[in-house]
Amino acid sequence: MPHLVVLSGAGISAESGIRTFRDGNGLWEEYHIEEVATPSGWERHPEVVLRFYNERRKQVRETSPNAAHEALVDLENSGFRVSILTQNIDDLHERAGSSDVIHLHGEIMKARSSINPRLVYRLEGNDIAIGDLCDQGSQLRPHVVWFGEDVPLYATACDIIASADMVLVVGTSLAVMPAAALINEAPLDAPCILVDPNAEQLAAKGVIPLATSATEGVSRLVSHWRETKRLTVPDELIR
Ligand code: APR
Repeated sequence: MPHLVVLSGAGISAESGIRTFRDGNGLWEEYHIEEVATPSGWERHPEVVLRFYNERRKQVRETSPNAAHEALVDLENSGFRVSILTQNIDDLHERAGSSDVIHLHGEIMKARSSINPRLVYRLEGNDIAIGDLCDQGSQLRPHVVWFGEDVPLYATACDIIASADMVLVVGTSLAVMPAAALINEAPLDAPCILVDPNAEQLAAKGVIPLATSATEGVSRLVSHWRETKRLTVPDELIR
């Protein structure tokens, strides 16, 4: 079965209404990164961190998957293996129907113990509050990876991308390690296409840019692959 590995970032959810991080209207503008997305921020003022993620979670619940998320499901339903390695903490890939999704930076819809990382809970309501405890009595925190923390699923992601026939990078500035380094783990003969309005500037050597939005670019590629029943680079992208 042809194997597509997708590396997605904030840009794939932009057209669903979730803001990206590093564009002009990026999320971090109203909050300092080190205040809300670092272990030291959590130590200093957990209530601010919880408020930030409670607001983000509410926003995610109010949005829906878009045509890019949906096209990837269509491909999966057409006899392709589609593995999604996402940097996003939203659940739009799953809500669209994708069955194989790895969240490199965690999942906003889950909470976890602040002393035992194996204690992870799906949130029933929207908010995590000060005083919400895990089964071992410690404060619950968002199940997300903060700057300075390990990416526990990185090795799993490396194994998955190592068997790709084609890599599709969508909506990520590839600014954050180690996620950005993942494309180097793909087989040398697997083409890599980058769908992003800034693709021309972002594409590293050997990466094929498709400078357009996620909904337009992913839909176009998926139509091509479903028609040809193979994971090939469309002629118009070959220079
Ligand atoms: N379609 C496709 N791409 C888009 C769209 C769109 N409609 N709109 C914006 N983009 C692109 C931008 O051009 C940019 O290259 O999405 C990318 C978003 O980049 P970032 O904001 O840096 O997001 P991302 O790469 O996912 O960030 C990685 O950084 O802050 C951390 O943990 C956070 O997971 C996040 C990580």
